[in-house]
Amino acid sequence: MSKYLVTGGAGFIGSNLIEKLVADQNEVVVVDDLSMGKKENLKSIDDRKLTFYEKSITDYEFMEKLLVSENFDYIVLLGAVASVADSVENPYATHLINQEANINIYEVVRRNKLKVRKILMASSAAVYGNNPVLPKKETSSIEPLTPYAIDKFASERFAMIYGRLYNIPTVATRFFNVYGPKQNPNSPYSGVLSIIHNCLVNDKTFTVFGDGEQLRDFTYVDDVVSAVRLLLETEDVKWDVFNVGTGSTVTLNEVIKAFEKAMGKKLDVIYADERKGDIKKSYADISKITETVSYKPKYNIVSGLAAYIAKQ
Ligand code: NAD
Ligand code: UD1
Repeated sequence: MSKYLVTGGAGFIGSNLIEKLVADQNEVVVVDDLSMGKKENLKSIDDRKLTFYEKSITDYEFMEKLLVSENFDYIVLLGAVASVADSVENPYATHLINQEANINIYEVVRRNKLKVRKILMASSAAVYGNNPVLPKKETSSIEPLTPYAIDKFASERFAMIYGRLYNIPTVATRFFNVYGPKQNPNSPYSGVLSIIHNCLVNDKTFTVFGDGEQLRDFTYVDDVVSAVRLLLETEDVKWDVFNVGTGSTVTLNEVIKAFEKAMGKKLDVIYADERKGDIKKSYADISKITETVSYKPKYNIVSGLAAYIAKQ
């Protein structure tokens, strides 16, 4: 049994991860300000194994007290404003959460010489921007198009540098587009598949930004959770960054068709201007993680959508 801190643990990926951690008898502490996550996402978790703090990771005094008093084995940094578009609207406010608050956590670990077994920071495929070489490899050039992408890249680099300089085992993941149950669809900034699902269920019109030909490597959340656990629990993996995706890609127009087929229903679609800073083509080369920790995605877009719909 290990003790985990999961920032952003009431969110989509966090709550799916915690379900598995607690099923394996681990103890989990969550810090989430509920700006996007919901307590309800954690309602099925055994509360003898879960401690929840409705706090912001930007509350440095609180974070330091918590980290020093709890002595976590593992720290998983998921707390963030996960929307690229939100960072374009609110660059400085999101920077304080997406970058500064993570550096504060590395700094507290360093200053207090905390003995953690691993810190995992959730970076993003957004760091590659519109680099035309596909699929994106960890060695591909970094061309951030938005404050979100810059903050993710900087937090990732700080994780590596704090790790190497101060001997803290750190690792970062570049998640591609993750989807599945518990993704909050209720914001204009929500993940696109949660919005499409919500529109299909409630007969609402869905707006495609751009021509719908943008490519994404949509990855089912269970595969992401497996990747995170493999990287956390494999001791000699440290000071390195890994793509987490499926290694294949579809256009938004194609995924809409696949969703319609899976739900047996037509989606009402309109088209509008593309979003500022939107990436045109994104898909992952996953050979590094596959070779390092034997990660193998179990879901493609058809089986992933079926699993998602079945869990609603
Ligand atoms: P999410 O919005 O569901 O989860 C993020 C959580 O962080 C939410 O519960 C939110 O309430 C919380 N949060 C936001 N600001 C906070 C603050 N100041 N203090 C404490 N908690 C705060 O998003 P998600 O999809 O679960 O993403 C998890 C992480 O993975 C994020 O760091 C995101 O940037 C990253 N990521 C996600 C994707 C994806 O496709 N979903 C892809 C790449 C990277
Ligand atoms: C997503 C994640 C981000 C992650 C990145 C990694 C969310 C909210 N965003 O960003 O955290 O770092 O993947 O690849 O989880 N779109 C529409 N209509 C809508 C909403 C979106 O057409 O109503 C389009 C967008 O313009 C974009 C695509 O769908 O082209 C995907 O958008 P979105 O789900 O917001 O994801 P990303 O911006 O790719």
